[in-house]
Amino acid sequence: MAKMTILVVGGGGREHALVWKINQSPLVEKIYCAPGNPGIGELAECVNVKQNDIDGLLNFARKKSIDLTVVGPEDSLVAGIVDEFESQGLKIFGPSQKAAEIEGSKAFSKYILDKYKIPTADCIVFDRFDDAKSYLKEIEYPAVVKADGLAAGKGTFICETEAQALTAISKVMIKKIFGDSGNKVLIEKFMKGEEASILGFTDGKNIAYLPSAQDHKAIFDNDEGPNTGGMGAYAPAPVITEKMFARICKEVFEPAVKAMALEGRPYRGVLYAGLMITAEGPKVVEFNCRFGDPEAQAILPLIDSDLVEMMLRIATGKNINAHIQLSDKWSMCVVIASGGYPADYEKGKEIFGLEKKFGADVEIFQAGTKNTESGKVVSNGGRVLGVTAVGADFHSVREKAYWAVRKITFDKAYYRRDIGMKALRHLKP
Ligand SMILES: Nc1ncnc2c1ncn2[C@@H]1O[C@H](COP(=O)(O)OP(=O)(O)O)[C@@H](O)[C@H]1O
Ligand SMILES: [Mg+2]
Repeated sequence: MAKMTILVVGGGGREHALVWKINQSPLVEKIYCAPGNPGIGELAECVNVKQNDIDGLLNFARKKSIDLTVVGPEDSLVAGIVDEFESQGLKIFGPSQKAAEIEGSKAFSKYILDKYKIPTADCIVFDRFDDAKSYLKEIEYPAVVKADGLAAGKGTFICETEAQALTAISKVMIKKIFGDSGNKVLIEKFMKGEEASILGFTDGKNIAYLPSAQDHKAIFDNDEGPNTGGMGAYAPAPVITEKMFARICKEVFEPAVKAMALEGRPYRGVLYAGLMITAEGPKVVEFNCRFGDPEAQAILPLIDSDLVEMMLRIATGKNINAHIQLSDKWSMCVVIASGGYPADYEKGKEIFGLEKKFGADVEIFQAGTKNTESGKVVSNGGRVLGVTAVGADFHSVREKAYWAVRKITFDKAYYRRDIGMKALRHLKP
């Protein structure tokens, strides 16, 4: 087979990790990334097309005879990029628009969970504010309010009181702070437990599971403060014991993949289940239709199989082998963010230390960065870098990751000091 030209859509840390992994495939000749970032630019040719400009991406893919397009972010998938590419005979990895609705609409996702008896929090969906408002009087607190549609990770509110819940539904349904994503609101029961993510490649039938992972959503140590896109991740997550993993396969993934096929929305791509490990067992918090960020930065280095071969099989409707080759190592990613994130923060800070030699077991994945005209790399977003270390023993992986983090600096850089502490607690003899 002639070597392939790949287009990766997106420009964050997840996409840097995808490009890094794809670049290791012997099947690949050249990688483009739209829009990419300076770190990605060291491995791929960055293309000045926005990730949600589907027409622009289509034109580019046709012009360059792209053999396979790989989509990182959810907005492009939910907008139907896969259907558009396929209708023009272009191969693309990711779920169709109808399948991506599992993330694009939390109400749809709950419908699937309930109909196919997949464990999750009890929930009612409202499309009228007054009905939602009166329901708030009947429930116990804390309770969880969620906007139905995409909200860039900001659409979920954990509410301690009825007053807080009222504020949340008003923001979502009346002020419409997420636009049409707030046409419906979900009010669900609060679940207690530890969270973890499980991802699996699926061809619509077979599932190849990736190592479990744990994200760190909150901005401050001890999971305090407002939620972010994710401040760090490690894999595998010891909270997912072998027994728990077996339950997640049986109780969540197998029925979910079957359900999507039965509903006429066969799911082909990577399916991400956000889970709460409760006293009763695993319960679904949400599904995502793509890799997580920063989970991808922790998980992808633990895949030994050829990622491109897997993605190509799925994109061309072939069956996958469920036995994907995984490394038995640990990995951990610490995100370095701009001070002030997730609220206001400054951009344009020169980043020092990127050129250092960190060794083969450390990768610096770039997210919110850009090149200045004079060739410097400066911060250009809330989450700036994802520093990942890989190794045989979790303690040393954690030390190595923080060692590398301390070697990189920019004005007002911020990172959590406690990434991986939960894993350590499980691993203590
Ligand atoms: N029912 C629930 N009980 C407890 N915590 C929840 C519940 N639903 C969501 N959360 C918390 O809120 C976070 C965000 O919710 P999620 O459904 O994943 O939405 P999104 O990622 O789209 O913002 C979760 O990672 C979890 O920490
Ligand atoms: Mg989530």
